[in-house]
Amino acid sequence: MNIPFLDLKAQNSTLKQEILPIWEEILDSAAFIGGKYVTTFEEEFATLTHSKYCLALNSGTDALRFIFIALGLQPEDEVITVPNTFIATTEAISQAGGRPVFVDINPRTYTLDPEKIEAAITPKTRGIVPVHLYGQTADMDTITVIAKKHDLWVVEDACQAHLAEYKGRPAGSLGRAAAFSFYPGKNLGTCGDAGAVTTSDPELAATIAMLRDHGQTRKYYHAREGYNGRCDALQAAALSVKLKHLPKWTEARRRHAQRYRELLRDLPGLTLPKTAPGNLPACHLFVIQLKNRDLVMEALAKKGITTGLHYPLPLHRQQAYAHLRLPTGSFPVAEACAQRLLSLPLYPELSEEQIVFVCDSIKEILR
Ligand SMILES: Cc1ncc(COP(=O)(O)O)c(C=O)c1O
Repeated sequence: MNIPFLDLKAQNSTLKQEILPIWEEILDSAAFIGGKYVTTFEEEFATLTHSKYCLALNSGTDALRFIFIALGLQPEDEVITVPNTFIATTEAISQAGGRPVFVDINPRTYTLDPEKIEAAITPKTRGIVPVHLYGQTADMDTITVIAKKHDLWVVEDACQAHLAEYKGRPAGSLGRAAAFSFYPGKNLGTCGDAGAVTTSDPELAATIAMLRDHGQTRKYYHAREGYNGRCDALQAAALSVKLKHLPKWTEARRRHAQRYRELLRDLPGLTLPKTAPGNLPACHLFVIQLKNRDLVMEALAKKGITTGLHYPLPLHRQQAYAHLRLPTGSFPVAEACAQRLLSLPLYPELSEEQIVFVCDSIKEILR
């Protein structure tokens, strides 16, 4: 059976009839930049994330970058985050002028380990960026207490966590600001690139609104230098269509994750992902741990099942961060996870038959 890691075509085919008439209207009106579709999506997403403001942007990377610039990062300022994230998290810190400082992860949840944060705080530390990896929010209460004690801001990297909840509160409302990605493969993915910032801080929202539009306060009047970081009307319209389906899709993801848990329970050599108490994950990825990960991945591929690695090499071991001089062994949990983690196919359209086939195949291979 052929089971792709992601099946975006399945989703697009069902939405075509909803999206195309709106795109036709946008083409006819030629209102591509800004306008009602962008504003409407921003209002909808702000409501969904219990935030006062949503700023639609052209990527999750710019969402992070604009937040850090708006928070006034200065050269040498340090920002704490995890080594097991997509490089966009740390690129944004560096490109805003700061320096990423890594802290290891909790071996059960794969998110920032609060117990290790204080040892990494220096007089130069300005903030903490927990990454809600695979759709599960980090331990936000503990992180917030530490941040308050040291007068630091907390920014959520919620790029994988649309509709995730922490103690009944949605991701996107748990820090000073949050960054979301609408890259096509995300739980809420658009038909190209897009992202957003959510925040309830009016000053931050106003600065980011300027930053995304060349620092303009009104046409051709620039309060500062900014960027071209806007989300366009075609993407915003597609996002509003998809947003209506997101709760149902997220429920399907949660059901599929539950089926994986049931079918892969108690298998020697396989560790299932843990959900921390009070967490309702968005189930962006279903990631298991295996001793012989590479062999299992290869054997699954032979059966037609595509799996993924998130992520194969922690950031501190990437060539891009060689200048930080962080040798192997610096973050043992993240390093061990990088060798053992395997992401299974997980998307709303996955069928029971496909899930059973994946699980039966894993059992057979492990035997
Ligand atoms: C954790 C994390 N942060 C940031 C990003 C960057 O988002 P984008 O690809 O929209 O720039 C992504 C998406 O790939 C991500 O998964």
